[in-house]
Amino acid sequence: VKESFWSGKTIVITGASSGIGEAIQWKLNGLVRRAYLLSRNPHVTEVPANNLTETKWQKLMKALGPEPVPQIQTELVPISVDMSSPEDIRNVLNHILEKERESDSGGIDVLFNNAGITAHGRFDETDISVFRKTFDVNFFGPIQLIQGLLPLVKKKKGIVVSTSTVSGLYGVPGRAAYSASKSALHAAMESLRIEMLGTGVRSIIVCPPYTRTRLRTSGLDSQGNLLQEPQAQGKIKTPEQVALEIIQAVERPKSRLVTFDLSGAVMKYLRVFSPGLLERIMHRKLRHDFSEK
Ligand SMILES: NC(=O)c1ccc[n+]([C@@H]2O[C@H](COP(=O)([O-])OP(=O)(O)OC[C@H]3O[C@@H](n4cnc5c(N)ncnc54)[C@H](OP(=O)(O)O)[C@@H]3O)[C@@H](O)[C@H]2O)c1
Repeated sequence: VKESFWSGKTIVITGASSGIGEAIQWKLNGLVRRAYLLSRNPHVTEVPANNLTETKWQKLMKALGPEPVPQIQTELVPISVDMSSPEDIRNVLNHILEKERESDSGGIDVLFNNAGITAHGRFDETDISVFRKTFDVNFFGPIQLIQGLLPLVKKKKGIVVSTSTVSGLYGVPGRAAYSASKSALHAAMESLRIEMLGTGVRSIIVCPPYTRTRLRTSGLDSQGNLLQEPQAQGKIKTPEQVALEIIQAVERPKSRLVTFDLSGAVMKYLRVFSPGLLERIMHRKLRHDFSEK
């Protein structure tokens, strides 16, 4: 993490109470000036010792003496919001706009648009209410929040970084609602990126692969019940690894659509150059996820 990049910044993280968003908070706590932490059940967790990001000054002080070195105080502002509720989002916007107006230097440097839910189910078995709910949380809520915060992001020539997924790069079988909601977000965030050209505001889309979080017990099944699925098999990243890669993507001046590993690279390139092959691979690899029960 580049200390000089984050020092003094104001950030917003949606979905900061768990998984990837919580790990982003841990990594930037003690570096940024203020962090708004949004979720339905916001809480401030102690940063685990192995997640502390030490500043150069802290490292130096530690090396010089036995005295405990205080962390730089990040102001943590937890706010409760259900991203599927336009009214909740209006309240959050008022809260943040009011607080940032308190000083001339107010504004948002980085908006981590990260909260989201998954939805598992075949296209032909997924209830329309599940499509709607998934879009409310993953698309309409974020759009309303980003639109509302854009004046503050513009003020700082800031960055909107959206946590999407490799499933947003192509319609994944057994994930129609999830894939569609994230692809829609891609399109809107690309429009934003182009409209903001020349203003200094950037829009980055990151597509992590399978990550060990609560996603598979916080999402929806085809009928709208809470999912109860075990973690994916095979290689799976930790939220801390993904958080660090997202933070580094934000630090790079040219990040646009960021994938993290082979699964992302395969999706990104085959969808353009050989979609037929990509579809056959997904059919074979993900068959157990969507075959008729
Ligand atoms: N895990 C993976 O394999 C994976 C892979 C690629 C991309 N992603 C993406 O990564 C992002 C973060 O997910 P995660 O994997 O870290 O899962 P997670 O552990 O379930 O975290 C999801 C976060 O979103 C918040 N959230 C969920 N529904 C919400 C709502 N209606 N309103 C407000 N906040 C809500 C949750 O907080 P509350 O419950 O407190 O509201 C939680 O903080 C998601 O956008 C997901 O699509 C995950």
